[in-house]
Amino acid sequence: MNAILVASNRGPVSFTLSEDGSLSMRRGGGGLVSGLSAVARDLGVLWVCAALSDGDRGAVRLAPGGRLDQAGYDTGALRMLDIPPATFHRAYNAVANSTLWFVHHLLYDTPNRPHFDARFRREWESYQAYNEAFAMALAEEAPHEARVMVQDYHLSLVPAMLRGVRPDLRVAHFSHTPWAPPEYFALLPDDVAAELLEGILGSDHAGFLTARWGTSFMDCCRSVLGASVDPAARTVTHAGRTTRIGAHSLGVDGKALWARACEPDVESHMSALRAQVGDRRLIVRIDRTELSKNIVRGLAAYREFLAAHPEWHGRVTHLAFAYPSRHDLPEYREYTAAVQRCAKEIEDEYATEDWDPLILNVDDDYPRSLAAYRLADVLLVNPIRDGMNLVAKEGPILSPGSALVLSREAGAAAELGEHALTVNPYDVSATAAALHEGLTMPEGERTRRGGLLAAAATALPPHRWFAEQLDALA
Ligand code: G6P
Repeated sequence: MNAILVASNRGPVSFTLSEDGSLSMRRGGGGLVSGLSAVARDLGVLWVCAALSDGDRGAVRLAPGGRLDQAGYDTGALRMLDIPPATFHRAYNAVANSTLWFVHHLLYDTPNRPHFDARFRREWESYQAYNEAFAMALAEEAPHEARVMVQDYHLSLVPAMLRGVRPDLRVAHFSHTPWAPPEYFALLPDDVAAELLEGILGSDHAGFLTARWGTSFMDCCRSVLGASVDPAARTVTHAGRTTRIGAHSLGVDGKALWARACEPDVESHMSALRAQVGDRRLIVRIDRTELSKNIVRGLAAYREFLAAHPEWHGRVTHLAFAYPSRHDLPEYREYTAAVQRCAKEIEDEYATEDWDPLILNVDDDYPRSLAAYRLADVLLVNPIRDGMNLVAKEGPILSPGSALVLSREAGAAAELGEHALTVNPYDVSATAAALHEGLTMPEGERTRRGGLLAAAATALPPHRWFAEQLDALA
């Protein structure tokens, strides 16, 4: 029996179906999964996740009760849910990624969107059904008084649903995103807004990446539900129950990251990149191609920097790695095209026969990203809004002598801001000036700040981050 359960939309592995009908398994991607995978295995956690693709569904159908570990896969204890594809698509793409993600990251172009109509109601019903499927699976799997750690905005309703059927369980919810301020959260239909908050309040402990997001959540509980909030004790009391609000600033396992970054595949990418850029200074960014990451303004800032500082022409290269993400959503496809257009304009304007001012890469290559971190002189992390941003933490560990240009709207700014060059992510000119300041910062100062950044980045590695939340349920 497993006394700790984790639930998340994306699981630790995914399957692809090849033409001959065989299935191959690989490790799942993304910040949430990489943080949790090692922890889950070490603690013998039972993980419940959704089947995301036809390959996943194929694997689930061959596994007794959806338990992939019992079908011979080396996954750790894992149950994958085969939720009907149309329901899954509406819950994941339409509600979680096109609505909740947009609300929490303040991404709407409000004259046009959001637009909550009859179609949204069908999508919302799917989100409820998808959350219900998780709650039922957890209720079935959890031994008496087990601790259940529910992850992220996909599963906001699960804690209350689970409490309804299994009041013996101790339940935590963790948000890996920011939380919207009340005026913006109020864009949601009133009943939906209330149901989301009451869903999370079904937990004993609601965790956030920084105190700032937890405070926004409490503000929403007060304004939407009329809940009673104790800002000093960090608790919310509603409908006779009290939920504690925690801040757990997920950090990086520095040792493990260094070990991975010294493997031969990374070293050979380093040599290849060096051969490509010569001894030029490097401004590096690494992101999913994600609207909230603010890649287009980042490129605009680099362009303005080049315009203002001709003395750097030929002496600097910007490596921009923007990996594909959520391409089922038209906004993301359009955003990728905008990033590519902007990069092309910079090249047309500045490239010479022997100088590439910008190298944009849009395919996923983890060892190459690690190589770029190690070579960086300046790391640019300028999201519009971000729950934490682990790039801002990984960079200073792998490149202790680099300067970090960091958006003040990233959760990471709470811990790193003091030692970084912080910017308003909407201010392109200020970002351009910060890039210049990073490049011209004296080496001693960069190293001094780099040490402080790396120490802050490794303060709460995933194992301790998870242990803190388990303790909060004790
Ligand atoms: C990032 C976010 C998480 C989110 C994950 C999902 O890591 O920080 O909050 O759960 O993306 O991404 P996906 O690719 O599964 O949609």
